[in-house]
Amino acid sequence: MALKHFLTLLLTTTPLASAWGTLGHDTVAYIAQNFVTSATKSWAQGILDDNSSSYLASVATWADTYRYTAAGKFSAPYHFIDAEDNPPTSCGVDYTRDCGESGCVVSAIQNYTSRVVDDSLSTTERQMALKWIIHFIGDIHQPLHDEALDVGGNTIDVTFEGTDTNLHHIWDSNIPEKLIGGYSLTLASSWAKTLTAEIKTGDYKSEASGWLDGISLDDPVTTSMSWATEANAYVCSTVLKGGVSAVSGKELDGSYYTAAIPVVELQIARAGYRLAAWLNLIATGKTGLKVAERRRSVRPIQPVRVELQDWARPLSAARLARLAHGYDCGHEH
Ligand SMILES: *[C@@H]1O[C@H](CO)[C@@H](O)[C@H](O)[C@H]1NC(C)=O
Ligand SMILES: *[C@@H]1O[C@H](CO)[C@@H](O)[C@H](O)[C@H]1NC(C)=O
Ligand SMILES: [Zn+2]
Repeated sequence: MALKHFLTLLLTTTPLASAWGTLGHDTVAYIAQNFVTSATKSWAQGILDDNSSSYLASVATWADTYRYTAAGKFSAPYHFIDAEDNPPTSCGVDYTRDCGESGCVVSAIQNYTSRVVDDSLSTTERQMALKWIIHFIGDIHQPLHDEALDVGGNTIDVTFEGTDTNLHHIWDSNIPEKLIGGYSLTLASSWAKTLTAEIKTGDYKSEASGWLDGISLDDPVTTSMSWATEANAYVCSTVLKGGVSAVSGKELDGSYYTAAIPVVELQIARAGYRLAAWLNLIATGKTGLKVAERRRSVRPIQPVRVELQDWARPLSAARLARLAHGYDCGHEH
């Protein structure tokens, strides 16, 4: 095939992505691969039907492609939770208030954790459930995926290195990509290696076991709400520290970028480590990452019934804005 045609094909087939972009999601998956037990690895490779060295990473952005298909449209709200808090004055996530009538990232983590072990489902359904878990544990760690204000920053126009974009998108993609220099699978794998070393022997070593505090397969909602609350707090402390007016219409590749880097690195590291722990819990009954941890039980985990809330209440301004904007972020990688 002529190079020109190949490039055209490549460009037109690049999947639309949102939430952490391709780089973020692939890195989270590679970090998790570095921390899963060998039993978990076999389990995941079996479900995904992939024995390659990128078995989690190569499906980490599938959910962002699927959400733009007719069949997958229903899953678009699962990529975030619209916290209707008041940054930068006060941050906070409330499951009852913020998980919409169509579901959110927290209900989705619960649902797909339940479904991935449900033997009554088809292989394809369980495979999709696992791909969603890999993706959503990444998404929930991106602060603007836990924020309703201005549709998670999607309607706050900014520039980054001279390019017109929006606040949501720079946290998904521009900031991590500037730091790492691109978004290929190879770059993700090498960033994951760096962050894995930070967890094992470096800056994160002393805090990493604390990242698993409260993690419980019996209560995926409480567990993932604590991750959402922690990420959402960065909206007040870092993302919108000076309010919307401090970023709107501004070029953010300078001091804003510098302040964002430690948060981006930490959140990617936490997401990867927690994804490994969560998959270890599902496959083996223990996180495999805590010292002196007892196996939770010998019985395999049971699927639970997931219920959405009763939404007989008027739609808030934030929810109307989300509906008007659509559920997409609409940007490549
Ligand atoms: C992966 O390896 C397992 C164990 O060796 C094997 O049973 C399985 O068929 C392999 N799967 C693929 C897709 O190659
Ligand atoms: C759980 O996932 C299935 C399959 O994607 C979906 O049809 C169902 O609506 C989900 N349930 C909830 C409560 O999100
Ligand atoms: Zn997503």
